Amino acid sequence: MRRGCSALVIFGVLLGVAVALGGLRPAPLKAVETYERKCSSCHGKEGAMLERDFEKKYASVSELREVVESMPGAIGMRSEELDVMVAYMRAISRGEPFLVWTERRTDALEGEVSPNAATVVATAKRQSLKVTRPAANRWRVELPKGTKLEDVEITARRGAERTTLRLRESPHSHTR
Ligand code: HEC
Repeated sequence: MRRGCSALVIFGVLLGVAVALGGLRPAPLKAVETYERKCSSCHGKEGAMLERDFEKKYASVSELREVVESMPGAIGMRSEELDVMVAYMRAISRGEPFLVWTERRTDALEGEVSPNAATVVATAKRQSLKVTRPAANRWRVELPKGTKLEDVEITARRGAERTTLRLRESPHSHTR
């Protein structure tokens, strides 16, 4: 009985540690870079040759997903990677900026934004965070000590269109 109890306690502690370490994770695909490399030859830079609102031609989310999955550059993509690419396609269809978080560094987060003309700002609990652009489609957000990932919100703006990514909800925008 006693042994059973302590095993249960140890299991509980391990589970707690796993949950604490697991936390929030970056997306498994650099969708913007992958798109430029594998898709832009047919669909234009940042989706320039895709029709506005093309997603409306598809009756369901799974239909759009199937089309993307059937594209030459998507062969071999894992399901979680495809999720990110489909999200990016939705953003293009809607003419809205797309945001994805792709890397966790010790004191910063990095990710992608499309179109590259969009401006990017970030906050944690209404405190603004320093954002730099290491490359045209990339952003880097500095994290002061003690900043919780759950509190980080990144906003991209292009003209009247604006997209906010809340890391506590998802590592990329346009999940639906
Ligand atoms: C060799 C050219 C080619 C490449 C490379 C390619 N596509 Fe396509 N794509 C097409 C053609 C042709 C269509 C239209 C025919 C169809 O629906 O199957 C299409 C249709 C689409 C559509 C639907 C557009 C609409 O108006 O309904 C999306 C979304 C799309 N592609 C995304 C992608 C993505 C993402 C990639 C890269 C992973 C990619 N494509 C790579 C040729 C290409």
